[in-house]
Amino acid sequence: MAEHVAILGGTGALGYGLALRLGGAGVQVTIGSREEGRARAAAERAAATVPHGRFDGALNEHAAAGAGTIVVLTVPFASHAATLRAIAPALREGQIVLDATVPLAPAVGGRPTHLLGVWHGSAAQQTRALVPAHAGVVSALHTISAADLEELDRDLGQDTLVCGDVRAEKATVMELLGLLPGLRAIDAGRLETSRITESLTPLLIGLNIRNRTHTGIRITGLD
Ligand SMILES: NC(=O)c1ccc[n+]([C@@H]2O[C@H](COP(=O)([O-])OP(=O)(O)OC[C@H]3O[C@@H](n4cnc5c(N)ncnc54)[C@H](OP(=O)(O)O)[C@@H]3O)[C@@H](O)[C@H]2O)c1
Repeated sequence: MAEHVAILGGTGALGYGLALRLGGAGVQVTIGSREEGRARAAAERAAATVPHGRFDGALNEHAAAGAGTIVVLTVPFASHAATLRAIAPALREGQIVLDATVPLAPAVGGRPTHLLGVWHGSAAQQTRALVPAHAGVVSALHTISAADLEELDRDLGQDTLVCGDVRAEKATVMELLGLLPGLRAIDAGRLETSRITESLTPLLIGLNIRNRTHTGIRITGLD
């Protein structure tokens, strides 16, 4: 797959780990940030960690405009809407926003084990409301720990549940995620199902706090 992916908020924990993994798998990655210098610094760190990877850094809106099909969103829910409003004018027809955002309560001063109610039903449905109709929206990655992604020698050995209203968009995202060693991407249904998949994250965070682990999920009984 000759893909060029943008990761908005790729300077942070999840986005940076994903950048390393995708870069290692041969995908060109532009790390996006609200500040260009931070994005470039993260891209330099990624290039030093994965020498055969192709990384650069840019403002979120420039990263989205320059990307190929997939634009990944990895920002805290507190800045979810602001980030999408900033990049919406840059999104081209056929691009897909892959949303990993979880509406965790720290966005309003609460606990990471609590999920916020979102007017639209979920972060992904809020994304659908904020990006132009000519761009697609798919959600996934909610249960993948950033720490697992950054351990580059580690086979991920887990699943990720993928939600979206357009089968072809989900297939494109699942092909990309299939490049990550040991990660199985499962079609979990329509975008509205994201209200369930997003709610798994605070559950896993609670397990991690109690057991000092980085848990993930594995669905049994599927081929
Ligand atoms: N961490 C995980 O293991 C994990 C796993 C699954 C899902 N998620 C979800 O993925 C999203 C990103 O998580 P994360 O842990 O990677 O977040 P993070 O490290 O706290 O933030 C990611 C990036 O978002 C940007 N950002 C924009 N507005 C921000 C604000 N108000 N406060 C802080 N950073 C802001 C920052 O980039 P710039 O300052 O460079 O713009 C930051 O580097 C969240 O919605 C989270 O729930 C995380």
